[in-house]
Amino acid sequence: MSSVRKPKRLRDMVEAKRVHIKTFGCQMNVYDSERIAEALAPIGFTQTNRPDDADLIVLNTCHIREKAAEKVYSELGRLRQLKSARQAEGKRTTIAVAGCVAQAEGAEIIRRSPVVDIVVGPQSYHRLPDLLFRAFQEGRRVVDTEFPDEDKFAHLPPRGKRQSCTAFITVQEGCDKFCTFCVVPYTRGIEVSRPVAAIVAEAERLVAGGVREITLLGQNVNAYHGEGPDGRTWSLARLLARLAEIEGLERLRYTTSHPRDMSADLIAAHGDNPKLMPYLHLPVQAGSDRVLAAMNRRHTARDYIELVERIRAARPDIALSSDIIVGFPGETDEDFEATLALVREVEFAQAFSFKYSPRPGTPAAKLDEQIDEAVKAERLARLQALLNEQQQKFNRHAVGRTMPVLFEKPGRNDGQIVGRSPYLQAVHAKGERRLIGQLREVEISAAERNSLSGVIKTTPDRGMTVAMGV
Ligand code: SAH
Ligand code: SF4
Ligand code: F3S
Repeated sequence: MSSVRKPKRLRDMVEAKRVHIKTFGCQMNVYDSERIAEALAPIGFTQTNRPDDADLIVLNTCHIREKAAEKVYSELGRLRQLKSARQAEGKRTTIAVAGCVAQAEGAEIIRRSPVVDIVVGPQSYHRLPDLLFRAFQEGRRVVDTEFPDEDKFAHLPPRGKRQSCTAFITVQEGCDKFCTFCVVPYTRGIEVSRPVAAIVAEAERLVAGGVREITLLGQNVNAYHGEGPDGRTWSLARLLARLAEIEGLERLRYTTSHPRDMSADLIAAHGDNPKLMPYLHLPVQAGSDRVLAAMNRRHTARDYIELVERIRAARPDIALSSDIIVGFPGETDEDFEATLALVREVEFAQAFSFKYSPRPGTPAAKLDEQIDEAVKAERLARLQALLNEQQQKFNRHAVGRTMPVLFEKPGRNDGQIVGRSPYLQAVHAKGERRLIGQLREVEISAAERNSLSGVIKTTPDRGMTVAMGV
């Protein structure tokens, strides 16, 4: 009850209430930022994209690589100037650091950066109104990086109305895999799955508000094992089947998956569930068994390739995407060649690749034989050249084909709209804005590296009428 009473008092305390949220990192942070905005709305905050216009600035941060974490401190440097400029005009600015850097560094952020008022970890966003109240009323700097017993999702307000026809829903959080390079198990905690009923209710609300495509999110989304309405544990495949029943929902996707959790029913779903899109992000990280073992991935290169064969047997046209790390400690030229060989064998539609970045507190950071930056850069360039070639080939393959595109937004050029193919490629076409939010068949006429362009086909019915009229 107190969490309801206090925000009302907070509402009285602040006059203009605008929040600016800046998001770094993965899609789960994008989702969290939306939920943060929704948690602040009942206490009177509206969003602004101008930091100098904001009474509250939230940095939703990422800790995955050193560069990502550093960005936060350079951003805080800029915000210090902004805060004092606003102060000179008699305006107060509250600065909150959320996300994975908040979780990893906690009170250290406040020590290092006096400009910060609130540090809040990813499990505590529902407590933000309370934290704000404490920061305001008591003038204190507050840190909340606990993993509370209560379910934050159950305490967040229901989803608000959205502009876009696509949406994320986090269905699973945390990771128990402990890959030796990765901070996520430390910043997001152990694997927890949300109950099916809560996810279905959220999806239905989104669809009623105009959403046509939902991407289910989790650090290890295919390890989903949530409580079903029948009291049993449901798998991701079963959850996807239930969501596919929602009328008006046209497309389902999920990300990110671990190869070890690609269960038989989920593979089968790619053949059976008509709303499940033919796209799968399945990080492999490396192609050398020695490196895979040192990374604690608990599968071999051959296991991965055989898994891909099973997935392609269920859905031959599936587009595969991946994450790959170069320069893991001890990676030899031969190990790196094994990564290139795996990439050549699998043929990815697209992939993300990174130089290994030692992260504090992770086992790999303590290993001898850290790889020279120049070697990492050279390997990354070679890998990216190969991946780019594969991506171009995949996109070229689409030319001449007709495929359904869900139009999401206006394009950069006048009269142009942009959507996504089933394979998650961006597709540009000439079309009226009223088509945004709709699926249309598009004949693909050209392919760039990162996008396609095409011509919207008239619907078969209209085509017939026109033909008959002639
Ligand atoms: N849960 C996902 C990915 C989480 S992080 C999974 O298991 O695949 C996204 C990607 O960042 C990882 O797949 C990995 O390729 C990369 N990454 C994680 N830690 C890293 C590090 N220390 N250095 C470089 N890349 C890293
Ligand atoms: Fe990190 Fe590995 Fe977990 Fe992915 S599976 S989040 S890479 S520890
Ligand atoms: Fe970054 Fe945290 Fe996501 S470390 S990648 S924001 S889970």
